[in-house]
Amino acid sequence: MTRVILLLLLLPIHVFGQFTNELIIPPTLEGTDFELTIAASTRQYYDGTATETIGFNGDFLGPTLIFNQGDDLNIEVHNELNESTTVHWHGMHVSPEDDGGPHTIIDPGTTWNPTFTVLDRATTFWYHPHLHERTNFHVTKGAAGMIIIKSEAEAALDLPRTYGVDDFPLIIQGKEFDDDNQLVVMGSDDNLIMVNGTLDPYLEVPAQIVRFRVLNGSNERVLNLGFEDDREFQQIGSDGGLLSSPVTTNRLRLASGERAEIVVDFSGDTNVVPRMVTYASELGQGIPGSGGGPGPGSPAGSELDGEDHTFMEFRVSSATANPITEISTQLATHDIWDESEANNTRTISMDGGGMGNPFTLNDDLFDENNFSETVYLDDIEIWTITNSTNIAHPFHIHDVQFYILDKDGQAPPANEQGLKDVVLVEGGQTIRFITKFEDFADPEVPYMYHCHILPHEDGGMMGQFIVVENEGEETILAIQALRSQYRVYPNPVDDQIIRVLLPDQLSPTDQVDFTVYDLAGKEVSFFASTFCGPDNLKILYLEDYKPGIYHISIRLNGEYADQLKLVMK
Ligand code: C2O
Ligand code: CU
Ligand code: CU
Repeated sequence: MTRVILLLLLLPIHVFGQFTNELIIPPTLEGTDFELTIAASTRQYYDGTATETIGFNGDFLGPTLIFNQGDDLNIEVHNELNESTTVHWHGMHVSPEDDGGPHTIIDPGTTWNPTFTVLDRATTFWYHPHLHERTNFHVTKGAAGMIIIKSEAEAALDLPRTYGVDDFPLIIQGKEFDDDNQLVVMGSDDNLIMVNGTLDPYLEVPAQIVRFRVLNGSNERVLNLGFEDDREFQQIGSDGGLLSSPVTTNRLRLASGERAEIVVDFSGDTNVVPRMVTYASELGQGIPGSGGGPGPGSPAGSELDGEDHTFMEFRVSSATANPITEISTQLATHDIWDESEANNTRTISMDGGGMGNPFTLNDDLFDENNFSETVYLDDIEIWTITNSTNIAHPFHIHDVQFYILDKDGQAPPANEQGLKDVVLVEGGQTIRFITKFEDFADPEVPYMYHCHILPHEDGGMMGQFIVVENEGEETILAIQALRSQYRVYPNPVDDQIIRVLLPDQLSPTDQVDFTVYDLAGKEVSFFASTFCGPDNLKILYLEDYKPGIYHISIRLNGEYADQLKLVMK
């Protein structure tokens, strides 16, 4: 109560009459065939100039996609932007080709058609563009949407699940507008919070237990959510699914890209007006949004930083006909692999930054031609993430969900003991997680791991891994030894002849094949093996090539060996 009074005294404008816009609830698409069109648009946020936006099937954000576990999906993504993009299903366990990472480019005017089976548990995922160096731009302008996975196991539980009635998506995003009403794309000066693309939102909720699927879709800001009256609520799910049992709390910290499902009991609230707050004053030093954090890259520029900020209001109306009055106490089972089962361990360090330098992973910037890690299919691995910078970075990995083993040697809090695909690693902190790389192997298309602060990711704080079938140690080692020894010249090339220099260990009996792909991943030419000739030189004739960037994928004796980039002038 004191806190409410204090807020009233200090910020009267904030509390009265501010939440005047009804929260937009994104429409849903459900079934097995989906069509998404990403396009530029506008929305009238303020008087005067309309705000330029990007949306899926609409002017801002996109429909909520409802997938059922076990379904075979057929998705068409049309790109009507006048630039390339990609669309990534953040959190989903799909093949690298269907994952929508930076390599799976959708050129303007073209359609991408991923097809995959929904293998994940019931949970909340999201989708967003992932083109290298353009992710922040596309997402900040509005290109993102929620994915809800349903399953029979989840349907058997006592939980609210009627979309838009007692189960609501909350896509929470820090945003900033410039003087021309345009969304500002760079980093950390976001000075207002939107929910589902709505400014100053209110949501009418029934006086009963309500479920929220909360996504921090900000490009950088960490949210520390709670209610103005400090009420308790229950967290029931983390990134990859339901927790073992509900965790009662009054705060939910979510970093960029992270999700959680919570339930809030509004049943006694018909005479009060609950409001949601991000308690930034409680964020530790160096956490984006805490303000005053040390060093460059820390968001000290926004008036939201370090301030507790009320951004959404709930108007409680009468209960629905058959409300959920008690939620299940057992939600999901988690059989966490034992550390002794791990086949491999690896360490990723978060480093760089300072003096205007970009943040890096293992001291390296992203290089689309460098697959920094090779994982064997079906291996259980323990990854250690260290952070030697002075700000917190959310680590995200594609393909898998993981379990956090420990943070600085301590077991994670109860709400982080479920499946995760993003974990916030604070400055100086070391976290370890365990996971298993199942189902999908592809020696040519990598998966990503990266910091989910979008300016950091675009700036190169990203690496990639391939998952390969474990066809015996020797084959893999031979491929790895030969990797990166191929050279193509001249490069850039302006006529039809290129020469590929092969490693000198190759003998006349080795079979070398070349496949040339364009940037959209379409095969342009295939050169079957013939003996490479004297000087280990192979000459390729590239007829009728349009100017642009191509990739040459090289196979040695049928095994993936290397990928080269070729620029055609
Ligand atoms: Cu949400 Cu690699 O991304
Ligand atoms: Cu992802
Ligand atoms: Cu980062």
